Amino acid sequence: MAAPAGVVLLALALAAVFYAPRQVRADGAPTASLRSAALVDATLPNNAAALAEGRTLFDENCSSCHGTQAQGSALAPNLRGLGSATVDLWVSSGWMPLANPGVQPARKPSHFTPSQTVAIARYVGSLAPGGLAIPTVDLKGSNPAEGFSVFALNCAPCHTITGAGDALSGGIAAPPLHGVTGTQIEEAIRTGPGNMPRFSTFTVSKAQLADVVDYVTHYIEHPDSPGGGLTLGGVGPVAEGFVGLFAGVGGCVLIALWIGDRDERDGDEGGSGPSHPGHDDGPGTESPEREVAHA
Ligand code: HEC
Ligand code: HEC
Repeated sequence: MAAPAGVVLLALALAAVFYAPRQVRADGAPTASLRSAALVDATLPNNAAALAEGRTLFDENCSSCHGTQAQGSALAPNLRGLGSATVDLWVSSGWMPLANPGVQPARKPSHFTPSQTVAIARYVGSLAPGGLAIPTVDLKGSNPAEGFSVFALNCAPCHTITGAGDALSGGIAAPPLHGVTGTQIEEAIRTGPGNMPRFSTFTVSKAQLADVVDYVTHYIEHPDSPGGGLTLGGVGPVAEGFVGLFAGVGGCVLIALWIGDRDERDGDEGGSGPSHPGHDDGPGTESPEREVAHA
């Protein structure tokens, strides 16, 4: 009984060692893509002028589809009561304004500056109570290794383990997570945009959310980072994660083999011996290629 437990422990230990992303960040500092809307939110004056700017931008760019009071229309859904976090996500990711209603919104450069985006989001948020305000991501004490586990469990099934994104059923795609900001990650997790589920604090706690943000913004590849080129630091830990997976899976295979071996030995006592000794030479000598070569 001690042997299988030992193998399990060994596999777990190996997996833990390889799973843990490196604690040293490859770039040493957050990239510009970490632009935090929350930072802008805190500095943009929350006054009548900012609200008026948001209203003007909304009237000019959004009301044709969403209605003058954001009440929705035949073309687009009601935005009242959604909260500024949802609006901030949809506008900062370039999903809105939508060029073709009916097509899944795709990430593109935002039409608006960060402060214009926040102004629009705040204006829509002010129209009706409800929803989430633009969050402030706090990475103090976050643990990217934990973040990797949370990501592997909750996000990788759709966005893939490398964050490259993937096609889901029904012509829907989970977008790549390259270059997303911490604020966008928190907004996506808590509001569940489009076909993505919303994660409550029961599924992804506040601390786990910070861990995931830390992991995604610092360890997932940023091909479109302003520095240009691939940041290998983003690839490394993921590759290590795979090594960890293989070590873990390898451990399970070992256990399976060990159990299988025991069963086989038990079974062999019944008399069903191993295959015929000459069997191994068979297929090679009978292969058509050989015959052609000899002919
Ligand atoms: C061409 C029409 C069109 C324009 C212009 C447009 N939208 Fe949209 N919007 C849509 C449609 C259609 C959807 C639903 C898309 C979906 O669910 O895939 C949508 C969805 C949204 C959502 C998500 C709603 C939800 O229930 O989750 C938000 C937020 C939003 N739009 C904000 C805006 C803002 C802010 C603007 C202006 C900057 C804007 N939209 C401009 C058509 C438009
Ligand atoms: C069931 C599949 C699914 C799961 C699970 C899922 N997502 Fe998503 N995610 C999506 C889809 C689909 C979208 C695009 C929204 C849309 O247009 O429908 C998205 C969008 C996003 C975005 C916005 C990307 C952008 O371009 O702005 C972020 C950030 C994000 N997801 C992060 C996460 C994180 C972090 C997790 C795990 C906690 C997660 N997602 C789990 C399907 C999923």
